Amino acid sequence: MVHRAVSPPGWPAGRKLRIAVLADLHVGEPYMGLGRIGRIVDTANDLRPDLAVVLGDYHASHRFVTREVTPDEAAGALARLRAPLGRFAILGNHDYWDGVQPWRNAFRRAGIPLLENRAQRVGEGEEALWVAGLASMLAIRIRRGEFRGLHNLAGTLRQVTDEAPVILLAHEPDIFPTVPARVALTLCGHTHGGQVRLAGYSPMVPSKFGNRYAYGHIVEDGRHLVVSAGLGVSLLPVRFGVPPEVVLVEVG
Ligand SMILES: [Fe+2]
Repeated sequence: MVHRAVSPPGWPAGRKLRIAVLADLHVGEPYMGLGRIGRIVDTANDLRPDLAVVLGDYHASHRFVTREVTPDEAAGALARLRAPLGRFAILGNHDYWDGVQPWRNAFRRAGIPLLENRAQRVGEGEEALWVAGLASMLAIRIRRGEFRGLHNLAGTLRQVTDEAPVILLAHEPDIFPTVPARVALTLCGHTHGGQVRLAGYSPMVPSKFGNRYAYGHIVEDGRHLVVSAGLGVSLLPVRFGVPPEVVLVEVG
């Protein structure tokens, strides 16, 4: 478990919010079987979060899967996440690339709201909050190394109709430079912290900003971003210097 304390400007005084963040599960045996997903959910529940979020990339997308974990199995395991303000999911680039509809169906059947360019209000009164989720910026592969996104940040934030704080879930941190200050906190995965990290530097980050948003708590112009190193592996079953993590973000 990794702990991040975040105090965004404008956050309601005295208000505390605990968010459990799971990212980049890349499900499938032997690295991410159902048993391990269950233990990850237990770890998140033990943190007693107010809100639990899962930030996309459920597909394994590597050739080393010895047994698949189906979307219904994975979403069913994630449905055990317990948080009074609810649990929410977004999709990652691998989910759009490798068959997205089964994941949409599975999250619906599991009762986990899947936010694809959607903002949902949770909590009442002083506890009210908007949880906004974006589609992937790399959703459609045009040709090798070239992608088109399905994300719609402006359209998603237009659904926010009052002054309650906004938590933005976005798979790829490359959205961050365009996120307005109205958003209290942006939560991302995708980078796996570079999957390989040496002395605070990641030599191969899947971001056009290189190391800038590779990992951790980043503050720019008073705007806050937390990037999780995630839990699984994709493409190559390698992690070095970036252990898998459940992140507990404490806001306020
Ligand atoms: Fe990703």
